[in-house]
Amino acid sequence: MHLKIAVLAGDYIGPEVMDAALPVLETVLKRAGHTLEHSAHPVGGAGIDAAGKALPDATLDAARAADAILFGSVGGPKWEHLPPAEQPERAALLPLRKHFKLFANLRPGFLPAALAGASPIRAERIPAGIDMVCVRELTGGLYFGKKGTTTPAGGDTEAFDTMVYRKSEIERVTDVAVAAARSRGKRLLSVDKANVLECSVLWRRVVSERVAATAPDITLSHMYVDAAAMQLVRDPASFDVLLTENMFGDILSDEMAVVCGSLGMLSSASLGADKNRHGFPFGLYEPAGGSAPDIAGKNLANPSAQLLSAALMLRHSFGLNAEADVLAGAVNATVAAGIRTADIAFGAPAVGTREFAAEVLRRLG
Ligand code: IPM
Ligand code: MG
Repeated sequence: MHLKIAVLAGDYIGPEVMDAALPVLETVLKRAGHTLEHSAHPVGGAGIDAAGKALPDATLDAARAADAILFGSVGGPKWEHLPPAEQPERAALLPLRKHFKLFANLRPGFLPAALAGASPIRAERIPAGIDMVCVRELTGGLYFGKKGTTTPAGGDTEAFDTMVYRKSEIERVTDVAVAAARSRGKRLLSVDKANVLECSVLWRRVVSERVAATAPDITLSHMYVDAAAMQLVRDPASFDVLLTENMFGDILSDEMAVVCGSLGMLSSASLGADKNRHGFPFGLYEPAGGSAPDIAGKNLANPSAQLLSAALMLRHSFGLNAEADVLAGAVNATVAAGIRTADIAFGAPAVGTREFAAEVLRRLG
């Protein structure tokens, strides 16, 4: 198979972890007889510096011409003086999600038992580690509803954001969550605020009907978002697949991330309905940990999240499950062998970004 990907590394640690990850990805593919064609394009702060906007037209064109986007991370202090709507995060990521209709965001929350000490949760509460997936609706709700700020006579300035959900939007993301649950423990938890919000009342009804009609093999339960936030710290090992709307998913996925230890281990996949040339969903794959300006340029960042995001890309946008397993397996084997970047070393000797990637390369089997 010939894989054509657009590489949007972005800012601060983005290019560093991308440079470490790409040779590993190339090696996995080459050994399995595939070819990788990748081209790099500026995005985020790098896009602002190079072309005056966070998502340059040429970058969007290149993404359109590719089978998938491998994304790094965007934003940082250099661009924080800009108006909020022009900042890298809002002006690059949200338009990309909207443009490619990437309505489903999958974030695996994975903490191997060997790393239980990395969690802020007491190790005896997670003896077998954590293995869950958060499926977040990504192109609806408060993020994309009508919004504005007005100052009426009298000067009491008012701002508003609107949450809107359509039945079809809930159904399609439910289908993604059902597929995820089916490939795992077959348990799906839908999170809403149906005791207060109309959108959540619809959400709960549509998810229930959809699962009843299409997925009798899946055990569905519902929880209010406040209770789910609590349950995530009380018993994170009890989760399998968590499905929720955009804003709740933003918050709960960060909570899940920190409960799973290092942000440097967290990968994500954003998928839509559009298919690439190979007939698989076009997707954007990115580490969920941010651009980490404080450690950028020092060979300190953990490249695992970028590598694991590349593995998700192989799985979802190319159907290369065996190759994805090889890549993710090598990352996990490296960590299990005690080779750690500073974020997961806890005072023990740590290796750098490049050295960690070299160890993963050695373990590709
Ligand atoms: C995320 C991020 C983004 C979001 C920001 C950077 C716009 O927090 O991917 O979770 O809120 O969706
Ligand atoms: Mg977030």
